Amino acid sequence: MRDLDPIVERALAAFRAADDAPALENAKALFLGKTGELTALLKSLGGLDPEARKTAGAAINAAKTVLEQALEARRADLADARLQARLAEEALDVTLPGRGRGVGGIHPVIRTWQRIEEIFHSIGFSVADGPEIETDWCNFTALNNPENHPARSMQDTFYVDLKDAAGRNLLLRTHTSPMQVRYARQHPPPIKVIAPGRTYRVDSDATHSPMFHQVEGLWIAEDVSFADLKGVYTDFLRRFFETDALQVRFRPSFFPFTEPSAEIDMQFAQGPWKGRWLEISGAGQVHPTVVRNFGLDPERYLGFAFGSGLERLTMLRYGIDDLRLFFDGDLRFLRQFAT
Ligand code: FA5
Ligand code: MG
Repeated sequence: MRDLDPIVERALAAFRAADDAPALENAKALFLGKTGELTALLKSLGGLDPEARKTAGAAINAAKTVLEQALEARRADLADARLQARLAEEALDVTLPGRGRGVGGIHPVIRTWQRIEEIFHSIGFSVADGPEIETDWCNFTALNNPENHPARSMQDTFYVDLKDAAGRNLLLRTHTSPMQVRYARQHPPPIKVIAPGRTYRVDSDATHSPMFHQVEGLWIAEDVSFADLKGVYTDFLRRFFETDALQVRFRPSFFPFTEPSAEIDMQFAQGPWKGRWLEISGAGQVHPTVVRNFGLDPERYLGFAFGSGLERLTMLRYGIDDLRLFFDGDLRFLRQFAT
C-alpha cells in the first residue's frame, strides 16, 4: 500500500516527539483514534476487490501492531523519565551542613520553679498539679472566702464564659490555694505537698502581672505546728538563696483560710537588696473550716499552708527590679540565665 508507509513514519516520529503523556495520547488519537489516519485508511478498504482488500487489510493491521508497540514503549519511557525526574527533585543531600538551631535556655522563673521542687522534694514533700480554670467553690468558697469578698469581683478575677455544675462561672484561679482543697480531698493525711503553677489576676505594674506563678505548700497531720512552718520555710529560703545571711520574719496578717495568718518577709544581710524587708509569701495555720472542707476533722488534724510568688523569689535571687522583664521575651535579658 502506497499510503501506508508515510503514515507509519509520521506516526512513529510523532510518538518520539511527544515529551509527556498527554502529548503522546494526542499523537495516538491522530493516527490510531476513531478518526485517526490509520483508521481512515482501514475504512477506505471497502471500495477494493476482495483479494486486494485482504492484502491491504493485513498490511494495515501489521502497521497498527507496529504503532501500538511503539506507543507502549514510548509510554514506558515517559513514565520512567517522570519517575527519574521526581527522584532527582526529592533527592536529599546528606552531605549538606545543618542549618544550626539557636540553643534555648530555661526561663528564670521556671528555674526557680525547678529549684523549689528540688528543695521541697528533698524534705519529703510531694509535688501536685491542678487546673488553671477553677470553680468558684475551690478558688473561694471552700477556702472560707465570704460571698462578698472583693477578690471575687470582676476587677480582680478573670471569669470564663462557662458555668460549673453549681451554675457559677468558672474562673482563672487567682492563687494556687485551691490546690490545697483538691489535693487534701483526694489524699489521706499526713499530707505534705507543694503545688506550683500559673495564677491570674486583673493586676499590672512593676511588681504585679496578670499572669504570675505561685507555689502552694500544705502540711497537714496530727502534730504539725506553726513552729514547723517557721522551720520549714526558713530552711527553704536559706537553701533557695544559698545563704544563711538572711533574716526571716513572720508578720501577722489576714487570710480567710488561715488562722493565725502571717506574711513572710525576708531581709538580706548583703547584696543589692541589703537591709530591706521584702514580702515573699502568705502563710498560716489552716483554718478549721477549711480543714473540714478537706473532708477532715479539725479537732484531729491541723497544719499549715503557704503561698509564695515565684516571680518575687526570682527577682530577689537575681536582683531584678521589674517583673515585666520576665514576660517581654527580650533575648538580651533571657540569655543571662541561659547557661
Ligand atoms: C495569696 O494568694 C494566698 N493564697 C497565699 C496564702 C496561701 C496564704 C496559703 C496563706 C496560706 P497573696 O495575694 O498575698 O496571697 O499572694 C501571695 C504572693 O503572690 C504575694 O506575696 C506575691 O509574691 C505574689 N503575687 C500576688 N499577686 C501578684 C501579681 N499580680 N503578680 C506577681 N506576683 C503576685
Ligand atoms: Mg500579700
